Amino acid sequence: MADTIYVVDDNEINLKMASAALRGAGYMVATANDAADALENIATVRPSLAILDVMMPDMDGYELCRRLRTRPDTANLPIIILTTLSELDERLKAFEAGADDFIAKPFNPQELQARVKVLLRRLSPQEPPVTTLQAETTAVFSLRGGVGVSTVATNLAVGLAQIWTAPACLADLALINGQSALMLDVPLRNGWGDLASIPIEELDSEVLQRVLLSHESGLRALACPKRFEDAELLNADQVHHVVRLLKRQFEYLIFDLPHDFSATTIAALDEADRIVLLLAPELSSVRCASIALEVFDKLNSPPEKVKLLLNWTFAGKGLARSEIEKAIKRKVDIVLPNVGDALVSALTYGKPPAFQDPNGAIGALFEDLAYHWSKESHRSAPPQTMKDGYKRVQERARARQKQ
Ligand SMILES: Nc1ncnc2c1ncn2[C@@H]1O[C@H](COP(=O)(O)OP(=O)(O)O)[C@@H](O)[C@H]1O
Ligand SMILES: [Mg+2]
Repeated sequence: MADTIYVVDDNEINLKMASAALRGAGYMVATANDAADALENIATVRPSLAILDVMMPDMDGYELCRRLRTRPDTANLPIIILTTLSELDERLKAFEAGADDFIAKPFNPQELQARVKVLLRRLSPQEPPVTTLQAETTAVFSLRGGVGVSTVATNLAVGLAQIWTAPACLADLALINGQSALMLDVPLRNGWGDLASIPIEELDSEVLQRVLLSHESGLRALACPKRFEDAELLNADQVHHVVRLLKRQFEYLIFDLPHDFSATTIAALDEADRIVLLLAPELSSVRCASIALEVFDKLNSPPEKVKLLLNWTFAGKGLARSEIEKAIKRKVDIVLPNVGDALVSALTYGKPPAFQDPNGAIGALFEDLAYHWSKESHRSAPPQTMKDGYKRVQERARARQKQ
């Protein structure tokens, strides 16, 4: 997408000339007639560069430049000041005000184009620093709804946050009706919707940090859009980009996925190291799991990436594990027992059992599962800081060994 250049000048003719020159060089242009207008609207315009006229009523270009430098959102914005005089004095004033360059008026269009191009190239954001973090990424998925995808994803993520000091993040890609904020009982202030309108090249780790929600367990969450209409704005490229940023900032990344093969879902499945495929012991669920496995195959996803989780979402008679394995021609990796209505109250009050009651049977189950799917490098030696979750997991393992 083309860079937007913000031109601030009280003179209509100057605005038109500068706009024409910039559009001619392929830039998008936004304009303001005075400093007050610019200060008010620059946050919405989000320009890549600003050109400020010096002589304006009320507030001159130098003062506007100084003000922009004091605001976090424009502190690093490339700024060119247009002066009528090319004297050293004027140049110095421009630099003192924090401008990156200045152009004497009347300017010729080629010069303006060249200066903008050079400045953008020189000040274009650097690649984010390469950190050592590389999140292990787990996608929880089922083509059939209501089989516990959100329950497992949320509790797994909370469990990881409680066991390790390493940062963990839950990304809710059920864009239309995601419930992770609800399930964690955190206000849905921000989410994917805020990222959808930001051009990829401006979407960096800092922006991302601002939209992540925080849960008491230490878990961070990227929630679904506040307005469901915004779901449509998000595309697969953006998901790939955001996930790659998340991977560098976290050690564990969990996706709560919707029950479809939309482009954004496929992007997340593609980025995952492990896919936890859920199914309940009933016919339609088994059929959905079988279709999902076929699609994974077509997407060239390695078979060992998939872990099959049989979740007894209902009590009473269901298909036997052996029957299911025969039908879908592969082994079930984990079985979650039916826990009655214990999860219903967890949902109603937004308290995942892994957080609310990690010593209770269900909470412990999820915490142990989180440990089971933790990084080998983390499990291989006791961590320097043993969090309560880690101690609980170890204690339960010792108790099982004694039996
Ligand atoms: N093992 C289980 N035992 C009892 N109820 C369960 C179990 N797993 C999930 N549920 C319930 O099933 C319903 C659907 O779960 P949810 O996580 O919202 O599924 P999905 O995200 O797949 O639509 C919820 O009411 C949840 O409490
Ligand atoms: Mg769900």
